[in-house]
Amino acid sequence: MSPGKLVVAIDGPAASGKSTTARLAAEKLGYIHVDTGAMYRAVTLKVLRAGIPPDDRKAIGGLLRETHVALRREGGVTRVLLDGHDVTEEIRSREVTRSVSIVSRHRAVREAMVREQRRMGAEGGIVLEGRDIGTVVFPDADVKFFMIAGIESRARRRAQELRTKGAEPDLDGLMKEIRERDSLDSTRKESPLRKADDAIEIDTSDMTIEEQVRTVVDRVRRIAEGRA
Ligand code: CDP
Ligand code: CDP
Repeated sequence: MSPGKLVVAIDGPAASGKSTTARLAAEKLGYIHVDTGAMYRAVTLKVLRAGIPPDDRKAIGGLLRETHVALRREGGVTRVLLDGHDVTEEIRSREVTRSVSIVSRHRAVREAMVREQRRMGAEGGIVLEGRDIGTVVFPDADVKFFMIAGIESRARRRAQELRTKGAEPDLDGLMKEIRERDSLDSTRKESPLRKADDAIEIDTSDMTIEEQVRTVVDRVRRIAEGRA
């Protein structure tokens, strides 16, 4: 049985383990999982396909009016739909990764995504992960986590992921890209990446995925029981 119907927020920098932990914790809790980064990636893909420069605020604002991003659960996997078409694989491309932090700085982009995320979370029973869930999207979330990990661990994890896809990643290049994205995400004016004051910090550098999931699930269950 699902413990309560809480709203769980997980934020943190790139490759700290948010998506993996959120997905498995949501499965155990019987909750919905929302990867908000995937939504910003889908918008970025559309911007790139339209040939719009990622810093063109006006053109992106116009494009957003005819953009629909949705997440759909299919056979245990979450598919990302952009205007009804499946873009789950394309949004992970290097081009999208390089531009996503520029596109997601625009206020119009953030407002459109946050509106949709709040709609999805209105009933509770949900784990949302991203950069601004505990600070902006759901500042009153029932449980908040902030995941961090050393830059080397994070780059090694991304490298491992790319290797399973047949790529030969360059560790220094990956480290540089992650640092740049962290910096853009943390210093932007609109909804910067920041630990909420009441978030529980989890340093995953030396943790296993199982330990991360257990930390999240145990805490959510305890809070849900306390309220039952
Ligand atoms: O999985 P990875 O850490 O590579 O990134 P992601 O979670 O897919 O997020 C991609 C980018 O989207 C981030 O670097 C942020 O620029 C942006 N993002 C955001 O601005 N706000 C969120 N709530 C989630 C992601
Ligand atoms: O969502 P975020 O970018 O924070 O991280 P992710 O997409 O979950 O990527 C983390 C990667 O590190 C995945 O390939 C995980 O399998 C791996 N990993 C982890 O999350 N935690 C560990 N303790 C070890 C590896």
